[in-house]
Amino acid sequence: MMKKRVFLTRTLHDFALKELKKRYEIEIHSGKIPIPKSKLRSKIGNIEGLICFPYDKIDRDLIDNAKNLKIISTYSVGFDHIDTKYAKKKKIRVGYTPEVLTDATADLAFSLMLDVLRRVSEGDRIIRNGKWIQIYGAYDYVGTDLQGMTLGIFGLGRIGSALAKRAKSFNMKIIYHNRKPISKNKENSLGVKYVTFLKLIRSSDIISIHVPHTKETNHMFNMKIFKKMKKSGFLINTARGKIVNEKDLIKALNKKIIAGAALDVYESEPISKKHPLTKIQNVVLAPHIGSSTKETRAKMAEITVKNLNLGIEGKSPIYSVGY
Ligand code: DGY
Repeated sequence: MMKKRVFLTRTLHDFALKELKKRYEIEIHSGKIPIPKSKLRSKIGNIEGLICFPYDKIDRDLIDNAKNLKIISTYSVGFDHIDTKYAKKKKIRVGYTPEVLTDATADLAFSLMLDVLRRVSEGDRIIRNGKWIQIYGAYDYVGTDLQGMTLGIFGLGRIGSALAKRAKSFNMKIIYHNRKPISKNKENSLGVKYVTFLKLIRSSDIISIHVPHTKETNHMFNMKIFKKMKKSGFLINTARGKIVNEKDLIKALNKKIIAGAALDVYESEPISKKHPLTKIQNVVLAPHIGSSTKETRAKMAEITVKNLNLGIEGKSPIYSVGY
């Protein structure tokens, strides 16, 4: 029997490729990342399964060309790069990889928060640039204590909750905003309090974003919001870059409308050395590494392959968007 065909827009772990090769005829894109749309369009018509990454835009046009495609399995928790509604309409399943990356992403959000409040990366730059001249002054490189600070979590889902657990052990006060509050029991065990979005913005010392990027959350954090935040407030974003209006953020940081930011995601990635954010000292920049630990990335690969297998068999993936 002819093996089904699977296309990967980028390579994965060896164990995952071995697994895939047992069942399918696989082709892996090499060369320019992300894969040029024209190349993906030329492949997508002949495959049953697609493994893609969060920067591969899988739009209507590609889906219309995907005549035999049964499943799009993305190596990410985010799926805003896929037109999932249209895929569903065309009976193409979409699998993604939540849960396994919850702790890694919460760890990163927490370390970005510690970094920007205690100015660790800034200190590293001071030393590397030969600017550490005198030691131990009363006002030198002073940061901000975490304990006692109010952390505002925007989106208390899996990752937001994991961040709350970490913040609780640092004696922070934790407030959150969701479309709907979680149960009182869960609130009590996490030590969190539900507030309106406006209250979250106004009362938080640090705001951490944990919502998906949608039409509603696009540029939700803009100058209007930054002006409502505390002047001493910090913004952490490990969710998606487009939730923040980057131009406004740059202005808010430069004009000291807010005290600092720590980012793992950007409106367009990768950002270059010349990006205006790189010129600002009170901002920590990470290269989209929320899920990037050896352990987590391997688990993501395992789920990506399992989701793909199930989809090709005509079954719902373990983690499914839609059905
Ligand atoms: C994802 O998986 O969508 C995350 O952005 C990874 O960090």
